[in-house]
Amino acid sequence: KSEPPLVFHWLPIIGNAIEYGTDPFDFYRRCRAKHGDIFTFVLLGKHMTVCLGPEGNEFVLNGRISDVNAEEIYGPLTTPVFGSDIIYDCPNAKLMEQKKFVKFGLTQQALEAHVPLIEKEVLSYLASNPKFQGARGRVNVSAAMSEITIFTAGRALQGAEVRKKLTADFAELYHDLDMGFQPINFLMPWAPLPQNRRRDAAHLKMRSVYMDLINDRRKSASHKVIVEGNEEPDMISNLMNCVYKNGQAIPDKEIANMMITLLMGGQHSSSSASAWIMLRLASQPSIAEELYDEQLRHLGPDPGRAFSLSDLSRLPLLSNVIKETLRVHSSIHTLMRKVMRPIPVPNSDYVITPDKVLVSSPIVSHMSSEHFPNPEIWDPHRWDDHDVEDMAGDDIVDYGYGATSKGTKSPYLPFGAGRHRCIGEKFAYLNLSTIILTIIRNMKLKTVDGTSSVPPTDYTSLFSRPVQSAEILWERRRP
Ligand code: HEM
Repeated sequence: KSEPPLVFHWLPIIGNAIEYGTDPFDFYRRCRAKHGDIFTFVLLGKHMTVCLGPEGNEFVLNGRISDVNAEEIYGPLTTPVFGSDIIYDCPNAKLMEQKKFVKFGLTQQALEAHVPLIEKEVLSYLASNPKFQGARGRVNVSAAMSEITIFTAGRALQGAEVRKKLTADFAELYHDLDMGFQPINFLMPWAPLPQNRRRDAAHLKMRSVYMDLINDRRKSASHKVIVEGNEEPDMISNLMNCVYKNGQAIPDKEIANMMITLLMGGQHSSSSASAWIMLRLASQPSIAEELYDEQLRHLGPDPGRAFSLSDLSRLPLLSNVIKETLRVHSSIHTLMRKVMRPIPVPNSDYVITPDKVLVSSPIVSHMSSEHFPNPEIWDPHRWDDHDVEDMAGDDIVDYGYGATSKGTKSPYLPFGAGRHRCIGEKFAYLNLSTIILTIIRNMKLKTVDGTSSVPPTDYTSLFSRPVQSAEILWERRRP
C-alpha cells in the first residue's frame, strides 16, 4: 500500500499555496495531467489529497462517517459566522435533523408562494434602483446581482420581517459577518484581528435581531407573520414548529443561527451564479433572445402576466442556462473532509492516512472532455436531449424541475453529494429562474465591448466569482 504522489513544491510550509490560490481549477488540472486523478499537495502546512473524477467524487463525498468528517474542517471557519450548536458545531446526526427541518420549510406549497415574491422584488429593484434608470445603461454585474439575490432570498427564504430589515444597517452587519469568510480564516479564525472582532460583534447583533423576531412570533399560536392582514408561513415559523427526535423543540438561539446560516450559506453561490448567467447571456445575446422567445411562447406577450412554479417547469432552456452555468462556473471549487482513520482507495494501491485532508472538486469533471465534449464552451443546448442521468447512470431525484443526480458517482455535482449535499438546490433554481426570467422579460443585454468574451474568474475569496469590476450594457425592451 502506498501514498498518492506528492505535487512538487519549493517552499516547505507554504507548499503549493500560491499556485492553488491564484487559480485552484487550473492547478488541479495541471496536477491531474501529471499525476492522474489522485495526488497530494501542500497548502500552508496541511497535506491535501485530491481525488478527481466521478470515482473521486464518490470516494470523498460518499465516505463513511467513521472515515471522513466535514465539521472538523469547516467548523472553525463557519462557527463564528453561523453560530454555535448548529451545522458544523454539532454532531453530524443533529445536522442531518436540521437539514430535514429546512426541507420541511421548502415544500412545494412554500416554493410556489416564493415565485411571485421574488418576481416582485426584481421588478421593484429594476424600477427604483439608480443603476437601472432610463432606457439603457451600463451596470456592474456583481454588485447588482448580489443586491438582487439578497433581496429575493431575503423576502422568500427569510420572510417579510427580515426583508424589511435589509437596509443599510443590516448590510453593514452582513458585510462584517461575511468578512469571517476570508481565506486567512481557514488558518486563523480566532486571530485577534479587527475584522474578527467585528465579525463576532456582528454575529451577536444579527442573532439578537432574529431572537427578537422569534420572541414576537411566540405571541401568536401559529408563529406566522401577518402580511397585509394575512398569516404568511415562512422558514422561521416552520423552524419554530419543528421538534428534534429526542422531543426537544429547536431552541430560539439555534433557530436564529440556522436562519443566519441560510442567509449567508446561499448568498455567495447564488449571487455568483446569477452574475455569471447575466455575463454569459450578454456575451451570447442569441441565447438571451431564445430565452425571451421561450417565455413568449409559454407565457404570452403580456409582460404583466403572472407566472407560477409550474410555468417555470415548462421553460427548459431557462433551466438549462442555469445548469450549464453551474457546470462551467461552480463557485465552490474545493470540498474538504478530514480523514479520521486510514482509508484504502478502491481499485488502487493508495491508502489515505489521517494526516491528510481529502478534497473533492467536481468542477474538474464538469470541465473534462471525457464527460462533456468541448467543455470550455458554454452551451445550454448541450442539455437539450439528455439529462445528467444519461451520463451518471445512477439514482436521480426528479424534482420535476431542475432534475439532478442524487448519486455521488457522477461527473456533474454542482450541489455536492452524499450526506453534506446542498439543501438549497430547489430554492436556488427557483430563485435564479425567476430572477433571470424577469430580467430577460424586461431587458436586452450586451457586453461592453460588443464581443462574446466573458471576464476572468476571481479566486481571491473562498468562493470563486466573476471579477468584481465586470460590467454589461442593458436596454429596456419597452420604454
Ligand atoms: C452545501 C452548492 C445554494 C445551503 C453545499 C455544497 C455545495 C453547495 C457544493 C456541498 C458542500 C460540501 O459537501 O462540502 C450550492 C450552490 C448554490 C447553493 C452552487 C446556488 C447556486 C444554497 C442555498 C442555501 C444553501 C440557497 C440555503 C437555502 C447549504 C447548506 C449546506 C450546503 C446549509 C451545507 C450542508 C452540509 O454540510 O450538510 N452547497 N449551494 N445552498 N448548502 Fe448550498
